[in-house]
Amino acid sequence: MAKDIEALLKEKRIFEPPAELVENSNIKKWMNEHDIKDYDELLERAKDIEWFWEEVSKEVIEWYTPYKKILDWTPPYAKWFVGAKCNIAHNALDRHVKTWRKNKVAYIWEGEPGEVRKLTYNDLYIGVNKFANALKSIGIGKGDRVMIYLPMIPELPMAMLACAKVGAIHSVVFSGFSAIALRDRINDAEAKAIITCDSFYRRGKTVPLKKQTDEALEGAPTVEVAITFKRTGEDVPWSEGRDHWWHDVIEDQPPTCETEVMDSEDLLFILYTSGTTGKPKGIQHVHGGYALGVAHTLKWVFDIKEEDVYWCAADIGWVTGHSYIVYGPLILGATSVMYEGSPDYPDIGRLWSMVERYGVNVFYTSPTAVRMFMRFGEKYPAKYDLSSIRLLGSVGEPINPEAWMWYWKYIGREHCPIMDTWWQTETGAHVISPLPITTLKPGSVTRPLPGYTADIYGTDGKPVAAGAGGRLVLTTPWPAMMRGLYKDPKRYVETYWSEYPDTYLAGDIARKDENGYFWIQGRFDDVLNVSGHRIGSAEVESALVSHPKVAEAAVIGKPHEIKGESITAFVVLSAGIEPDDELRAEIREHVAKEMGKIARPGEVWFVGDVPKTRSGKIMRRVIKAKVTGEPVGDISTLANPEAVEGLGKAK
Ligand code: WTA
Repeated sequence: MAKDIEALLKEKRIFEPPAELVENSNIKKWMNEHDIKDYDELLERAKDIEWFWEEVSKEVIEWYTPYKKILDWTPPYAKWFVGAKCNIAHNALDRHVKTWRKNKVAYIWEGEPGEVRKLTYNDLYIGVNKFANALKSIGIGKGDRVMIYLPMIPELPMAMLACAKVGAIHSVVFSGFSAIALRDRINDAEAKAIITCDSFYRRGKTVPLKKQTDEALEGAPTVEVAITFKRTGEDVPWSEGRDHWWHDVIEDQPPTCETEVMDSEDLLFILYTSGTTGKPKGIQHVHGGYALGVAHTLKWVFDIKEEDVYWCAADIGWVTGHSYIVYGPLILGATSVMYEGSPDYPDIGRLWSMVERYGVNVFYTSPTAVRMFMRFGEKYPAKYDLSSIRLLGSVGEPINPEAWMWYWKYIGREHCPIMDTWWQTETGAHVISPLPITTLKPGSVTRPLPGYTADIYGTDGKPVAAGAGGRLVLTTPWPAMMRGLYKDPKRYVETYWSEYPDTYLAGDIARKDENGYFWIQGRFDDVLNVSGHRIGSAEVESALVSHPKVAEAAVIGKPHEIKGESITAFVVLSAGIEPDDELRAEIREHVAKEMGKIARPGEVWFVGDVPKTRSGKIMRRVIKAKVTGEPVGDISTLANPEAVEGLGKAK
C-alpha cells in the first residue's frame, strides 16, 4: 500500500479536455441555462442538496403523483421525493414507447458465438410486459423477492424490469457465482421464484446454469417456481411442477401490462455485496431516488446524447451493470451495447472489433480489463477503427497511472477524457468523478460531483490536511443511497454509521491533494478487490475451512498486475494431514466450487498457524505486510506472534 501512495504522489501530469467536448457537454448546457459560470460555482450552489436534486430530477424522472417533500433525513435513513408515486419501469420503458423512441434500438446484443440481436424500446417493452404477466400468473406480486441468475443476455434486463413492473424485488446473482453462493443469497432473501437459463457461452465453452440452480435449490425451501430461458438448447435437469420454460410461460400472455404504482421509497432490488464477516450484505435500493441518481450521473458524467452508442462492458450481476447497463441508459432512452461472453474470445481484440462495428461513442470498463489489454499489447486495438469513441470510463478499483496512460493513448487515441468514477454498491450511482469539463490527473477520481459532500477524516473525526491519508466519508445524504441492509438494520448502523456521527463511512482510504482532487488508495477493511469485484476475505476463509482437511485459513489480497489483487490463502491442515500439491489443487477447486471461479485462490500456502489477536480475529494486515515485504508493524496484540515467523516457512 505505502508503495502505491508514493507512486501516486509523483503523478504530476494533467490533461485538459478538448474544447469542443466541453462546449457541447450536457453539464455545460445545464450550467448555461442556470446562469452558473463555472464548476466551482455549481459545487457551491449544489451545497443546497434539495435545490440541486430537485432541479436535476426535472430533466430525467417522471412521477405519477408529485412528491410532498424532497428530503426526509433522519440519520442514518434518508427518504427522497417523499410521497411521490412512480415506477422505474415507467421511466425506463413505458414513457419511451409513447414517443418516437418506440423503434429506437435499446440494446445491440452480441452472443459470444457471434449472433446479433437488436432490441428496440418497443421490443423490450413487449418482452417485459409478457414476462411481467407471466410473473403475475404464477403469483408474484408487490414485495415478493425474485432471484435472477442469468448471464449477459437481453432476458436479464427484461426479467429485472418485469419484476419492477409488478412491484416485486429482484436480486440478481452474478452468473459466475457457484450454486452454494447462490443458495446463501436465495435463503437470505427468502425468494419465492428464480429465473435462470439452461446454459450460456463463455470462452468457447458452456456454463451449466440450470444445473447449478438445481443444486442451489436443494437447500432453498422458499423457492416455489423456477423459470428457465433456453439459451443454448443443452439438456437440463428438470423438476416437474416447480420448473417452467420461459417460452412457455410467456406464450399466451398479452403484450401489455399495467405498471404497478409504487411509492418512491418502495424497494426495487437487493444486491448482495461482500463485507468483513463471511455473510454477504443485502444492499437495498428503491424506485425513486435510485432512478434519479443513475440517470442523472450517466447524463452528466458520460454525457449521453440521443444519437450515442454507449457501452458499459461490465456484468449486470454487479452494481455497475444494474446502474449503467440497465436502469441508467434505459431511463435516458439511450442505445447500449451488450455482450455475452469473454473479452478474449476468439481473441483479445473482440471488444475493439465490436467498437468498430457498432460505432461506440462512450466506452466504460474496469482497470483490471485495461491491464489485461495492456498485457497483450496495443497491436489488438490498433487493428480496429476506434475513432467513434469520444469518452472513456473506469470503475471498480484505483486505476494505476500506467494503465490510465495506456487507456488514454491506445483506446482514447490521446483525445478522449477518462471518467474515473468512484462509487459503490451502497451509493447506487457515481459520487466522485470527473465530468467532460474536468482537468484530469491520471489515477485521481478528481472531485465529488455536485450534490454530494465527500471528505477525508482522521480517526479523530476531523478532516485531514491536504496530502494526508484518511477515511473517505460522505457527510450529506444523496438520492441513490442504499436504504439499509435487508433484514439487518443493526449491521447497517455498525458498518456505515458508527464511526462518525451522522456520517457515511465508505470503507475506503483516500487522500486529497492541494487542488482538492481525491486519490483512492483502496479499502481498509478485509475486503479483497479481485478484478474490480469485492470479495470478502472472511467468505473465502469460510469456504476454505469447509474443506474437510482444512482446520484454519487466512486470506489476503496480494497485489497482482492484472487482477488488482490475487487471492492468497494460508491454510492450516487438520491434524495428521500431510501437505502436498494434489491437496493444494483440491483446495483451490473446492473454493471455486463453493464460491465461484472468481474466488479461486491464486496461491495456497500450508502453514502451522495463522497470526491472530487475543480475541481470535485473524490479523490479515500482518500477513499482508509479511507477504509484500513491508514492515509488519505492531504485533503486541497478537496471541501467537511466532505465527508471523512461521509464515516465512510456508510450504
Ligand atoms: C472500489 C463498484 C478506486 C472502492 C462500483 C469501492 C474504486 C469499491 C473505484 C466498491 C474507482 C470503485 N477508484 N476505487 N474509480 N470505483 N472502487 O460495491 O474500494 O463493487 O469502495 O461497486 O470499489 O465496489 P462495488
